[in-house]
Amino acid sequence: MNGAMPVFADVDPATFQIDPKKIEQKITPRTRAIMPVHILGLPADMVAIMEIAKKHNLIVIEDACQAWMAEINRKKVGTFGLAGCFSFQNSKNIPMGEGGAIISDNDEYMDRCFSYHNFGYPYGSVVGAFGGGSQMLGTKVRLTEYQAAIALAQLARLDDETTTRNENAAYLKSKIEKIPGIVPYKLYDNVTRAAFHLFPFRYKKEQFQGMSRAIFLRALSAEGVPCSIGYTSLNKMPYLGHAFQSKNFKKMYPKEMLDINRYNEANQCPENDRLCDEEAVWLSQNLLLAEKTDIDNIAAAIDKIQKNASKLKNI
Ligand SMILES: Cc1ncc(COP(=O)(O)O)c(C=O)c1O
Repeated sequence: MNGAMPVFADVDPATFQIDPKKIEQKITPRTRAIMPVHILGLPADMVAIMEIAKKHNLIVIEDACQAWMAEINRKKVGTFGLAGCFSFQNSKNIPMGEGGAIISDNDEYMDRCFSYHNFGYPYGSVVGAFGGGSQMLGTKVRLTEYQAAIALAQLARLDDETTTRNENAAYLKSKIEKIPGIVPYKLYDNVTRAAFHLFPFRYKKEQFQGMSRAIFLRALSAEGVPCSIGYTSLNKMPYLGHAFQSKNFKKMYPKEMLDINRYNEANQCPENDRLCDEEAVWLSQNLLLAEKTDIDNIAAAIDKIQKNASKLKNI
């Protein structure tokens, strides 16, 4: 919407996160910012990413929308870059309907954020006459007090719930990593806490008698474990071609940069495609608030499917 062109760097399939080794080769003189997403609530490799940003004089905006309380070396994610963004949309660990938050140590930046979300009215260093109306382009994307009250009540238990999710995730991982064909997420060595908005693992059908992921998911659901294949590849979504046809983009970019075939070619992410199209399986955060016996049941269900794959694979 701002006319910025997203450039995609592939993921490290073991951690499910953006791969820092793939970022640098994507940087050009046009690059302005790096936007790591702590996807699934597992921290991206911020130490490596900040080094790259420093070297190339780029700002970093962390999408920590799924990663409340997650930490690297005891420092919270969302506090490494210029800004961290958090979401309180309904599926999240702190759901409040719709809404989010931005954090930053940079006062001027925060003033602009505040002004932007409030009609572009004067705020702090966004200076204007009192009653003088909008100083900059703005929105009315404001939280209501009712929503804030719902979120504040949940903040009180967030720390304990995060601990529970971390303990149960580690427990579930320890159980299912022994099952052939199940490869749970890996955290980077410097991660001291994750948020586990989702618990991901990779499904290797070769060790399940070639049974498709779709059948595996059906069987797991039938065992009473809600699960999903996760997202589709963001770099292939039709909105990109649509945006490139807009007047805004046409004004700002040379024609060859708006050639969607050329763009797709340059933005291939084969590792991410394999996760999205073939291997990823996600369990949602609320399962990780269950009792240990329930976690045992999840592991037992996966084990049962593995042992019965030859019977299930053709259903
Ligand atoms: C990783 C990530 N980024 C951004 C968003 C957008 O947040 P919101 O829905 O609060 O606008 C979400 C969730 O909705 C998300 O999961």
